[in-house]
Amino acid sequence: MREFAGTRVLVTGGAGFVGGNLVRSLLACGVRTVHIVDNLLSSELINVPVDPCVIFTEGSIADDSVLADIGDEYDYLFHLCTYHGNQNSIHNPLVDHEHNQLTSLKLFDWVKEFRRLRRLVYAGAGCAVAERTSGEAHATREDGPVSLQMDSPYAISKVVGEFYALYYHARHGLPTVRARFQNVYGPGEILGAGRWRGTPATVWRNVVPTFVYKALNREALPLEGGGAATRDFIYVGDVVRGLLRCAALGAAGDVYNLASGVETSILDLANRINHLTENPAGVQIIPPRGWDRSGRRFGSPAKASAQLDFRAAVDLRDGLVSTIEWTRRQRPAIEACIRRHAVAMRLAAAPCTASPPAGVLHRSPTP
Ligand SMILES: NC(=O)c1ccc[n+]([C@@H]2O[C@H](COP(=O)([O-])OP(=O)(O)OC[C@H]3O[C@@H](n4cnc5c(N)ncnc54)[C@H](O)[C@@H]3O)[C@@H](O)[C@H]2O)c1
Repeated sequence: MREFAGTRVLVTGGAGFVGGNLVRSLLACGVRTVHIVDNLLSSELINVPVDPCVIFTEGSIADDSVLADIGDEYDYLFHLCTYHGNQNSIHNPLVDHEHNQLTSLKLFDWVKEFRRLRRLVYAGAGCAVAERTSGEAHATREDGPVSLQMDSPYAISKVVGEFYALYYHARHGLPTVRARFQNVYGPGEILGAGRWRGTPATVWRNVVPTFVYKALNREALPLEGGGAATRDFIYVGDVVRGLLRCAALGAAGDVYNLASGVETSILDLANRINHLTENPAGVQIIPPRGWDRSGRRFGSPAKASAQLDFRAAVDLRDGLVSTIEWTRRQRPAIEACIRRHAVAMRLAAAPCTASPPAGVLHRSPTP
C-alpha cells in the first residue's frame, strides 16, 4: 500500500508469527525503517528479516530502558506482542499479565504524547469476545455483547488491552485502532518457537500448525470432543492486509474484525489436512479441554468490508496448501525448536518427583 512508503514503523512482537509476516509486507511497501521490539519469548530470530531497513531490539516492551530507547519518530505502530497463549496463561497468569497486559499499558502510556503517530493498531482477539455456545453460532460483530466471564487470563488480557486502547484514545487522543483477529494460520508459525512457557501448548500452539505437522508425520490428528467445535480460519496474508488497512483507513478509536466469516468445524479441518497430505492415520478422538467453553464461533467480516474495503481473499484449501508446503520446507527448523522442549514436555506429560529444569516453574495440570 502506498501509504506506508517512506514511513517509520514500530512493531512490538514483530519476530512472532503474525509480526514476521507483517514486517515482510511493510518492507515490500517501501517503509523507511521498521523497528521490531521482541523478547523472543514465543518466537525465533530466524523470523526477523535481514534487511538494512529493519532495526531489531531484543527485549520487553514493558521494560523502561527499552521504551526510553525507542525514540518518538514513528508514523505507525503495530502492537502485536502477547504472552502466547490461552493454556500457558492459565498455567501462569502473572507472567501473562507481565507480557500481555502490562506491555499494553506501559506502551500506550509511553507513546501517548508521540505527535507524529498516525495510527497505533492493537491486535485484539475474536476468541475473547465471542459468544460461548455449542449450539448454532451467530457471526460475532464488533458491537456485540461481551461476557465478563472469561476462559483464560490471556482472554482477559486481550480485552483489557482494548479497554486501554479506548481509554488512551479518549483521554489522550492516541490514535488507536483495534483489529480483532479470528484464528490466524499460515506460513511462519513455528511450533515450539521461543522459551518453555509451562505447558505443551508451548510446542503445539494452534490447531492448524499442529495438525499439519502431525499429518506430515503420519500421526492421527487428535480431535477434542470429536471435532464438533467450529472456528473462523483466516490466512495470515489476509490478516496482514487487514492490519495495513486498519492503519491506513481505520477510524481512530474504532474496532474492526479481521475474519473470513466462514465457520469450519475442527473435524472438517482435520479431514482436509489429512486429504491434502495423504495422511492415512485418520483422526483420534480425545476428551475436550476443561477450560474451553467456546464451542462454535466465527466472526462477521461486514464492518471491515464496508469501511476498510477488506475481505479475506485466500480460501481455506489454498491457505492450507501453502501452509503444508512451508511446513515441509521448514521441518528441520521446526523440529529443532520442538526438540529444545523435549525434557520439559516429558515432565509436563508424566507425573514425577524429579526437580523441573530451569525455567519450568510448575507442571501443567491441563494437557
Ligand atoms: N494467531 C492467532 O490466531 C491470533 C488470534 C487472535 C489474536 N492474535 C493476536 O495477534 C498477536 C500476534 O500473535 P501471534 O500469533 O503472532 O503470536 P506469537 O507468539 O507468534 O507472537 C507474539 C510475539 O510477542 C513477543 N513477546 C512476548 N512478550 C513480549 C514482550 N514483553 N515484549 C516484546 N515482545 C514480546 C513474542 O516473543 C512473540 O514474538 C498477539 O497479540 C495475539 O494475541 C493472534
